[in-house]
Amino acid sequence: MGDSARVRERIESLRQSLNYHNHRYYVLDAPEISDEEYDRLFAALKELELQHPEFVTPESPTQRVGAAPSQALDTVEHPVPLLSLANAFKPEDIKAWWQRTSELLGTTDIATVCEPKVDGLAVALTYEDRLFVRGATRGDGFRGEDITQNLRTIRSIPLSISENAPRRFEVRGEVFMPREGFRRMNERRAAQGLPLFANPRNAAAGSVRQLDPSVTAQRPLDIYVYGLGWAEGASGPSAHWEIMDWLRTLGFKTNPLITRTASLQETLALYEGWVEQRSRWAFEADGMVIKVDSLQMQEELGSVGREPRWAIAYKFPAMQGTTKLKDIGINVGRTGSLNPYAILEPVRVGGVVISHAALHNEEDIHRKDIRIGDTVIVQRAGDVIPEIVGPVASLRTGEEQVFRMSSHCPVCGHTVVKPQGEALHRCPNAACPAQALERIIHFTSREAMDIDGVGEKLCETLFTAGLVRDVGDLYQLTSKGLQRLERMGEKSASNVLASIERSKTRPLGRVIFGLGIPHVGQEYAELLAQRFEGIDELAAADRDELLSLPSIGPKIAESIVAYFSDARNRETLRKLREAGVTFRRQAENSQGQNLRLEGLTFVFTGRMERYTRPQAEDLITRLGGKVAQDVSRRVSYVVTGEEPGSKAARARAMGIRLIDEAEFLSLIEED
Ligand code: IVH
Repeated sequence: MGDSARVRERIESLRQSLNYHNHRYYVLDAPEISDEEYDRLFAALKELELQHPEFVTPESPTQRVGAAPSQALDTVEHPVPLLSLANAFKPEDIKAWWQRTSELLGTTDIATVCEPKVDGLAVALTYEDRLFVRGATRGDGFRGEDITQNLRTIRSIPLSISENAPRRFEVRGEVFMPREGFRRMNERRAAQGLPLFANPRNAAAGSVRQLDPSVTAQRPLDIYVYGLGWAEGASGPSAHWEIMDWLRTLGFKTNPLITRTASLQETLALYEGWVEQRSRWAFEADGMVIKVDSLQMQEELGSVGREPRWAIAYKFPAMQGTTKLKDIGINVGRTGSLNPYAILEPVRVGGVVISHAALHNEEDIHRKDIRIGDTVIVQRAGDVIPEIVGPVASLRTGEEQVFRMSSHCPVCGHTVVKPQGEALHRCPNAACPAQALERIIHFTSREAMDIDGVGEKLCETLFTAGLVRDVGDLYQLTSKGLQRLERMGEKSASNVLASIERSKTRPLGRVIFGLGIPHVGQEYAELLAQRFEGIDELAAADRDELLSLPSIGPKIAESIVAYFSDARNRETLRKLREAGVTFRRQAENSQGQNLRLEGLTFVFTGRMERYTRPQAEDLITRLGGKVAQDVSRRVSYVVTGEEPGSKAARARAMGIRLIDEAEFLSLIEED
């Protein structure tokens, strides 16, 4: 074999390997290798392609972002129009649909497939000779926009298909932005002073309809495919459920919650469960799509106008409601921000009673013209705190009061300031008890040091009892001291102390985030932990050094410098260091130990024999891995002990790798 043929073979094998791991990571959410290993493979392919540009092909994993910006998006015609769905809002609507469907079909034996109606943007993906050749928006159903180059940047869309497939076919699905990605993206945009996206759907639509694919590539987009538009010469599946199976084997990503139901009762029960769970889903969905499974039945039922009779969208209860705004209260945040919040006449929204809602800041209240005494529209979105959308001005009586931010901190009485260019009012007194308490709550929170068992309530108790005045004091707590608190026995005290002890080995990024430096969110804390060896190096960095880091602007740089020059903070840091809290990157921390679990996330379910849960968790963190409480897209392994719980079933449904204790031990123990 000549050199050229060998290179070509190596390139081919790297591409196959990258495609495989890409699919494991982005489609199955079950990576087998660490990000670093993936990056190494990717770099190797890039290098070879650079040396041998004659072997570069458009479907190479390196070519996802490659196209130059365009002037305008071209129009494309859909060979088979994209239909829309009729909506249902109540169980009666679904019963009526079911009744009609069974009458038309002459049977009640109808299997259906239920899918979350993901809130994003409908797209059609065309493949020719196993290659992704065109991606289009739905548009008016007949004609859409050509967004091929943008869709190529979405890692869960396969650029090529390794299985046998029809020569030409079109897959349809919903491109969306997962909630977490949306939150992080907006957090970054806020830090950079860019306008925020209103919700994940707008963010997804805006990201996909870009003229410059490199912008789309930066956005955390994902896809769930939900059907086959058309296929040339395919005579395979006879049911929608089978089509979905088949699409999965071709490498497409489908929603793990898709369920086949055999009766109306089953469908209605599933819907109730979804209404209850949906705020915890990783994506936003506004309903359940119910589809008749049999393709033959679908054909028999046909369409009326542009709506198929064989499918219907059962919308979830509105996440909005109206109620009276009784008053506006002020919360003092950990950085001294004065956060106004709405005190509401309790109202049920989407199945939950709401009596408080966020109001952001004074400007926002005035911009929306919200007045105390107004009837207001409240909105819930996911698990976040409900928001006030705006007033129903037509219901005003004239008694309503315009809100004015108070000139003094409601907790410590210090004069309030409003820094130039900021929307928030602040209490500048860093010793303000409200701020001190919020800092402790933040430090112990799940996203920061994750001190299990030390929640908001206990923080408050510890703070008012004078036992913990800053986060450094947490590590000086004693069993005796704790037991003086109400409802704190010896057992609870020792649990609390054990949790605090465990938190000492949290990775550097979490410690930095936990410090609560103004403007340093999770994302930035992680970035800083990657750039600096430890807290001391970060503390020694001056404004210019910080500004030289990518994506750190003057606001953040100045805030970091100010934090480390404050004597009180230095005192807190001293206590943390003395207690043995991680001050350096983990790799340095555990000298000589390897970090072979880096990039992997574990979830436990069921009892284990060898280690207790906390011991196992500790081992994982020490080896660079992460532990999550719940099964989600990011989880690499679910470790099942004796009598595993529902997490195992969920993992199975999501295609996440399940391992037993023995396999787990072989992963963590030295060979
Ligand atoms: S099926 C005939 N399935 O909802 C069937 N649509 O009006 C047509 N959507 O914008 C679509 N999730 O993008 C279907 N699992 C799902 C869906 C879904 C979201 C969107 C779709 C379209 C709208 C249908």
